Amino acid sequence: MMTTERRVLWVTGAGSGMGRASAVAAAASGWRVAVSGRRANAVAETATMIRDAGGEALELAVDVTDEDALGEAHGRLVDTWGDVDGVVLAAGLNTPRRNWGDQSMTDFAAIVDTNLTSVARVVDLVLPGMRRSGRGDIVVVSSRSGWRFSPGAGVAYMSSKTALGALVASLNDQEGAHGVKACHLCPGDVDTDFLAMRPEVPGAQQRAQMLTADDIARTVRFVLDSPAHVRIDELAVSPIGQR
Ligand SMILES: NC(=O)c1ccc[n+]([C@@H]2O[C@H](COP(=O)([O-])OP(=O)(O)OC[C@H]3O[C@@H](n4cnc5c(N)ncnc54)[C@H](OP(=O)(O)O)[C@@H]3O)[C@@H](O)[C@H]2O)c1
Repeated sequence: MMTTERRVLWVTGAGSGMGRASAVAAAASGWRVAVSGRRANAVAETATMIRDAGGEALELAVDVTDEDALGEAHGRLVDTWGDVDGVVLAAGLNTPRRNWGDQSMTDFAAIVDTNLTSVARVVDLVLPGMRRSGRGDIVVVSSRSGWRFSPGAGVAYMSSKTALGALVASLNDQEGAHGVKACHLCPGDVDTDFLAMRPEVPGAQQRAQMLTADDIARTVRFVLDSPAHVRIDELAVSPIGQR
């Protein structure tokens, strides 16, 4: 009987929210999934969810802003399963103090480091392997604020997410010839822990109008499972009532 080796996916921000839901959905779709986040216990919970459903998971607790640790995590992943075939980049940061009148430059730098530079760090690590295999799927979880001006999202957050559109376009321009494709995925409001970083944290009634993490996981799975010759450059996914 011929066996097909499962493709290897690395998900950042996989300890909660959209990253976790995407990791679980991709595993159900047949990917081996390496799960990353800073909280080892949250990462372990996601790995358990995947294994309990019959999938394969590798726990890689790591801070994506720590370049050395990230390189070590990638090394462990490659030693375990070989080159990475796909990544879902969902680690993200915001702050309640997000306007020119109240933001701090320390927060600004941390947000750009997490939301933008860390995406480039992970991509830089996995690209050589993707080029070798002639195929790579990169899903960048950006934001509606990276697609349309969204003043409430904050200066640093909106700027970092908008820059992801250019990062994705540059990947598609320069790496498409190697079979690598990237998607700028722009969710609107999603009911996750992330909302705790808003200046006014939404209540249950508002959250009920939002997307769920599973809604986005379904979209991620659609992108990851698209045929090799199909590139989905950008997707904006919003709850029906979002203005
Ligand atoms: N919720 C929304 O309405 C919304 C809308 C559009 C886009 N987004 C974006 O969607 C992505 C996922 O967010 P979510 O809504 O699913 O919220 P979430 O559950 O809070 O997920 C964010 C994840 O990022 C991880 N993370 C943060 N900083 C990290 C770091 N330095 N290194 C490694 N992991 C880090 C967190 O885990 P640890 O704390 O354990 O590291 C957490 O699991 C984010 O990029 C966010 O900007 C959210």
